[in-house]
Amino acid sequence: MSEKKARLSFEGSDKTIELPMYQGTLGPEVVDVRGLTAKGLFTFDPGFVSTASCESAITYIDGAEGTLLHRGYPIDQLAEHSNFLETCYLLLNGELPDKKQNQDFKESIRYHTMVHEQLYNFFNGFPRDAHPMAIMVGVVGALSAFYHDTIDIDDPEHRRLAAHRLIAKLPTIADMTYKHSIGQPFMYPRNDLSYSENFLHMMFSTPCEEPNISPTLAKAMDVIFLLHADHEQNASTSTVRLAGSTGANPYACISSGISALWGPAHGGANEAVLSMLGEIGDETQIEKYIAKAKDKDDPFRLMGFGHRVYKNFDPRSRVMRKICDEVLAELGVEDDPLFRMARKLEKIALEDDYFIERKLYPNVDFYSGIILKAMGIPTSMFTVIFAVGRTPGWISHWNEMLSSPMKIGRPRQLYTGAKQRDYPAK
Ligand code: SDX
Repeated sequence: MSEKKARLSFEGSDKTIELPMYQGTLGPEVVDVRGLTAKGLFTFDPGFVSTASCESAITYIDGAEGTLLHRGYPIDQLAEHSNFLETCYLLLNGELPDKKQNQDFKESIRYHTMVHEQLYNFFNGFPRDAHPMAIMVGVVGALSAFYHDTIDIDDPEHRRLAAHRLIAKLPTIADMTYKHSIGQPFMYPRNDLSYSENFLHMMFSTPCEEPNISPTLAKAMDVIFLLHADHEQNASTSTVRLAGSTGANPYACISSGISALWGPAHGGANEAVLSMLGEIGDETQIEKYIAKAKDKDDPFRLMGFGHRVYKNFDPRSRVMRKICDEVLAELGVEDDPLFRMARKLEKIALEDDYFIERKLYPNVDFYSGIILKAMGIPTSMFTVIFAVGRTPGWISHWNEMLSSPMKIGRPRQLYTGAKQRDYPAK
């Protein structure tokens, strides 16, 4: 790291503080502010808009350029040439697998797709209409009750096995939440199906027939998982890192990530997009809702638009839109009023000064919900699918953090409460 320095000076004082600066491989320089505490100062950055919370080599995002790299590979190239499991391997290990590594990884994931039979009992306790994310938070966190053999977080082999188990079991648990909600029997994963074929099989097949998975839909599912695989230090990944910094086991950490992802400002946005389109109702109401989105006094936001980092097109949404066209054509629903309205909403927003000035573009969630609905997947499962896709990213960041010396994450605050005062005498 460079020896460049930043100097902090203060009005009314000749005191200056020198702070080291670092330049990463790509992206903005950073000012190392760790020395401020010893000088009796904190930085103040609610929402961590200007804070680099860690050093990482996994994913790079350039919001102005609309760039997203996983271990240096652009997301659109991975979406075109790679697949979800190969991208999982890349995120976890830093390099694309060779032929044997790829085969070994696929077999390891396939070996871990089943869940402990006792896990089935958990579902008896959940109401049929429980939101599937509520079940995911509970069941994934409870996995640590079954795997005492892989929660020595200082053992790289334990971390590897936990990573494989989580990537392998999330789809199985996800589909169990869906089958539970519709009263159908749980489907076991099949070793003769690919990861994404298995996901659709465990969701839509029944014991009464052989699986009948559309290759187009399986490919679309695989790319959707891939596009969600990782995204730098987003809210849920930062939650996983913070939980991991306390030494919590990997299953508890991923469960905390699922909880954070659930929010409509984050991973819950794909479900919120469909709710929004339903609320708008038809094309004649679009202008009214665009006005609501622009009205500061109106809490309505255009779900699926805007991003904390991207002030250009979200590169994932470009790929997602291409898949959207393919899936709608495959299913013969490209003229569906809902999908036509989404297109018109996107066009109007992209031509509106409010959105142009604020660099608000469709994000990954705008199209994903439309595709998933066209595939017959209920909106309540959309964020669950986001969680399945994001698991390799979460676990890669958790592993990266634990692979080098770390401190427990413990931010400070600007205290604006009452000064010390005595309890009133009786
Ligand atoms: C994800 O962080 C990640 O990487 C997340 C994610 C990932 O892969 O992990 O990419 C996944 O969470 C995608 C985002 C999904 N969320 C939504 O689609 C919900 C709708 N979007 C907004 O809630 C909002 O855009 C956020 C939460 C995504 C970003 O919030 P910010 O950082 O506060 O937005 P901003 O500072 O860029 O906003 C600038 C202006 C503000 O108005 P002004 O105060 O300047 O007048 O734009 C406005 C905002 O009010 N604005 C919107 C808007 N998003 C921002 N106005 C209307 N509709 C919107 N969607």
